[in-house]
Amino acid sequence: MDHFNYQGGQLCAEDVPLSRIAAEVGTPVYVYSAATLTRHFGLFRQALDWTDHLVCFAVKANSNLAVLKLLGDLGAGMDVVSGGEYARAKAAGVPGDRIVFSGVGKTLVEMRMAIEGGIRQFNLESEPEMHALSALAASMGATVPVAVRVNPDVDAKTHEKIATGKSENKFGIPIARAREVYAEAASLPGLRVVGVDVHIGSQLTDLDPYRAAYAKVADLTRALRADGHSITRLDLGGGLGIPYRRDNNAPPLPIEYGQVIRETVGDLGCEIEIEPGRNIVGNAGILLSQVIYVKKGEGRDFLIVDAAMNDLLRPAMYGAHHDIVPVREPAVGAAVQPFDVVGPVCESGDTFQKGADLPEMAAGDLIAFRSAGAYGAVMASEYNSRPLVPEVLVSGDHFAVIRARPTFEEMLARDSIPEWL
Ligand code: LLP
Repeated sequence: MDHFNYQGGQLCAEDVPLSRIAAEVGTPVYVYSAATLTRHFGLFRQALDWTDHLVCFAVKANSNLAVLKLLGDLGAGMDVVSGGEYARAKAAGVPGDRIVFSGVGKTLVEMRMAIEGGIRQFNLESEPEMHALSALAASMGATVPVAVRVNPDVDAKTHEKIATGKSENKFGIPIARAREVYAEAASLPGLRVVGVDVHIGSQLTDLDPYRAAYAKVADLTRALRADGHSITRLDLGGGLGIPYRRDNNAPPLPIEYGQVIRETVGDLGCEIEIEPGRNIVGNAGILLSQVIYVKKGEGRDFLIVDAAMNDLLRPAMYGAHHDIVPVREPAVGAAVQPFDVVGPVCESGDTFQKGADLPEMAAGDLIAFRSAGAYGAVMASEYNSRPLVPEVLVSGDHFAVIRARPTFEEMLARDSIPEWL
């Protein structure tokens, strides 16, 4: 459930008509609903209310400071994968002891930053990284909590570009080698082993891969405890999918996911961490755009809109589907016709959807790409020198710009021409 519904013939974000945002901020623009973010975060908390837990929002899904502040104030932890994300989490007021540092290639600069600023745990992804962190922490006179990310060799049954839990993927340490790696971790200075970490992929629509992976984590935890390690935390990653099509079977609910966690690892008495991103913010955001031209083609009509692949990359990159809806509510029973909805960027990949069923459309009409709150704005670029897409947060009947659209001057000011040219 989200808070983007028609009221009085207009698509609204909570109680704000999207046409008002378009008039005041311009298009394209991302629009997020605070009530939806709050609701989705609460569902994960509720799903784990049977145990000690921390829901760490995966900052990569949406790293706007206002979004992080909203979630942080609700008690969320943060899962970060770069120095920049760590800086954002801190700037949003999240204390270091609620920040988990994941990622396959943490640099010394990033690790130092987190040790100095405070960190809940590093999720180690490789032995070279473990050695680097140990040497760094020891040189700083620090001892840092660590979990080792294990690769359980489970097929997450999702898009190949976002599956991470198979042995051929670059992530984590093969689970078969984990005991050896933990033995070494325990012997190294500067590290304190606290847990086990796993993440098998994103946009999972089936709970079975989770069940399989978490069962392996439970076995490993027992073995590690028998080896003498104190395993008190399990970081079970993120990845629970969202419905991208309104008319489709919905993926499992957070509460059902929480049940799988309870059944597989619930008896171990560990504090549970999870790292959902998409499920919290995906359906809490839309991309609002305006029709520039309706172009009659041969056998098809194109809706040329002012959003493009640089603003919302997912369709071009993953062949992803985002429902496209008109902002003016169509009359009941109004005829629809298929449009190819495309952006102005100079490549055919800049196609959002072929044959989208929409009512009659004219230049100037507004449309919304639904389910765009996750991996939308964060993956945007200025390709074709299109200024970075702005973001707006709505709460009830008011809204605020939470990232302004740069002017052309601001965009150009980031470049400099060497004096010798
Ligand atoms: N934890 C780790 C270690 C991750 O790598 C990810 C996502 C998450 C948590 C959060 O997963 P989520 O709950 O959001 O599914 N750009 C792609 C998605 C990439 C996901 C990468 N890792 C997309 O637009 O579909």
